[in-house]
Amino acid sequence: MCGIVGYIGNKKAGPILINGLLRLEYRGYDSAGIATIENDNIKVMKNKGRVNNLYELDGINNLVGTIGIAHTRWATHGKPSKENSHPHMDNSNSFAVVHNGIIENYHELKTFLIEKGYKFVSSTDTEVIPNLIHYYFSQDKLNDDKKVLRAVKNTCNSLKGSYAIEILSKYNKDKMIVTRKDNPLVIGKGNGENYISSDIPAILSYTKDFYLLDDNEIVELSRDDVKFYNKELRSIKKQVKSIEWGALSAEKDGYDDFMLKEIYEQPKAIRETVGAKLDNGHIEIDGLEITKEYLESINKIYIVACGTAMHAGVATKSIFERLCKIPVEVDIASEFRYRNPLIDEKTLTIYVSQSGETADTIAALKLAKLKGAKTLAISNVIGSSITREADYSIYTHAGPEIAVASTKAYTSQVVLLNILGMYFAEKLERVDRDIINKLKEDIFKLPTQVEEILKDTNRIHKFAKKVYKEKDMFFLGRGTDYAVSMEGSLKLKEISYIHSESYASGELKHGPIALIENGVTVIAIMTNSELVEKSISNVEEVITRGAKVFVITSEEIDNDEISEIIKIPKTNTFLSPILSVIPMQLFAYYISKEKGLDVDKPRNLAKSVTVE
Ligand code: F6R
Repeated sequence: MCGIVGYIGNKKAGPILINGLLRLEYRGYDSAGIATIENDNIKVMKNKGRVNNLYELDGINNLVGTIGIAHTRWATHGKPSKENSHPHMDNSNSFAVVHNGIIENYHELKTFLIEKGYKFVSSTDTEVIPNLIHYYFSQDKLNDDKKVLRAVKNTCNSLKGSYAIEILSKYNKDKMIVTRKDNPLVIGKGNGENYISSDIPAILSYTKDFYLLDDNEIVELSRDDVKFYNKELRSIKKQVKSIEWGALSAEKDGYDDFMLKEIYEQPKAIRETVGAKLDNGHIEIDGLEITKEYLESINKIYIVACGTAMHAGVATKSIFERLCKIPVEVDIASEFRYRNPLIDEKTLTIYVSQSGETADTIAALKLAKLKGAKTLAISNVIGSSITREADYSIYTHAGPEIAVASTKAYTSQVVLLNILGMYFAEKLERVDRDIINKLKEDIFKLPTQVEEILKDTNRIHKFAKKVYKEKDMFFLGRGTDYAVSMEGSLKLKEISYIHSESYASGELKHGPIALIENGVTVIAIMTNSELVEKSISNVEEVITRGAKVFVITSEEIDNDEISEIIKIPKTNTFLSPILSVIPMQLFAYYISKEKGLDVDKPRNLAKSVTVE
């Protein structure tokens, strides 16, 4: 995780770097720091805590350097502290480095460097990098303009693990070097200036032209030039990509929090995701060239992802099974990659990742590829690492998602997976066309139905006020409602710190009902008319044992003992997770606000999980 920013140009680097860090804070927020070059020396300023704590440092507003690197940290090695914050320097104060990722062999490298006389001041893995650069630099007898680049190249060859690195050097005061392996890094091309960032939105207000770096590429930036090299330091060419997202989509735009803004952006995100694939009822998916013959040869589909993205898989498993008649397994990426799953060339593996940078999901994809399976990535970020690894990549059109808790990305993923299921089903012709056509009609209604839910949120807010002090809650559902109960429970945990569990309603009696006692809150989701009777019976069972029940339903339910019933519009069962999750997101949001917590940046979490 961690976020990194860099600037080289004619403006003062300090404010640009801090502004970029504030936008990258979702990636980590336990310490921050910047380095610039002033009067031929590298000047480092860093502090524990949020990026804004940098303003407590004397002289932070007086930095005049026009070249700089910066970092906001999510601690992996060494507790959050000033010493462990980045940038880290080598012993001679000649190289400053910021790093996102993990150096797995840092013990070995540290021992080697200590034997050579180097001293260490932090407990981080990163500190080996500037010292190793210094070591290779001092060993190199050639004094040409590629000396620092060679030292960086040799250092990278010694590193095991994952990294995105920015390097400032006092030997090359008008240049900056960056490189990456398994961690994101983009370069924003300006006019007489260049920018670096872990993601595109953080620097979108400065430029719309980007270079997307591939693994092991080394880049040397000056004010007017960006030179790309492969890992042998041979020159390579890269194309600039222009990005359409407006800078405003990365701003709060009048909302109190990004999460609330993103919840309200869901009608637009769904409309755009649908609009990009379903033109006049005809499904066209850019980047997907899958034939009927190939689909007929598939004996299994795996949907692999982490967290909320994995829940999108659980919510859509049944569309592939019911309309395509192909068995589907949904797996947690960190489990899938280590359990030697049975996959071969007849398996289609689908990976869902908002960021496209999640380490476990990418590793799971690489594993399936090695075993000969086809790989299809679903991401929200064009050019993200996962899309560059997969055989096919298709995109949700949710726009940048900044809040750590995923909302609009989830609903867009569920929409896109449904469209994918229909696309396969149309080719396979294993079910009646009318079923698919009806589903298409229902998909087009979703944005307006979400708007309808968002129009009146008072009752959700009222219930949140009633229960925000509780310690435990339970979420129940059957079928696709169970998938949403898992997502509702995760949202609540991550932003309100209330312990919660989700259960398939029918499973309650097999143990968990022992936890239901007077006053416990149970949230029940009931959108499937075929299962509603059974779900009501399960709710009665918990009410009998004293639970307060909050129901989200599209059915007519008349029961005085239920504390609150939130009515949502009716849709096809396959699509119901897109509607029923909205009250769950708002419920978690209001509880977090009532508790006075930081909704957008919950403790211990980061948006993009680029470590295992
Ligand atoms: C929860 C949340 C996480 C992510 C998970 C995967 O609100 O956002 O559970 O869904 O870390 O992230 P991506 O989709 O970027 O692979």
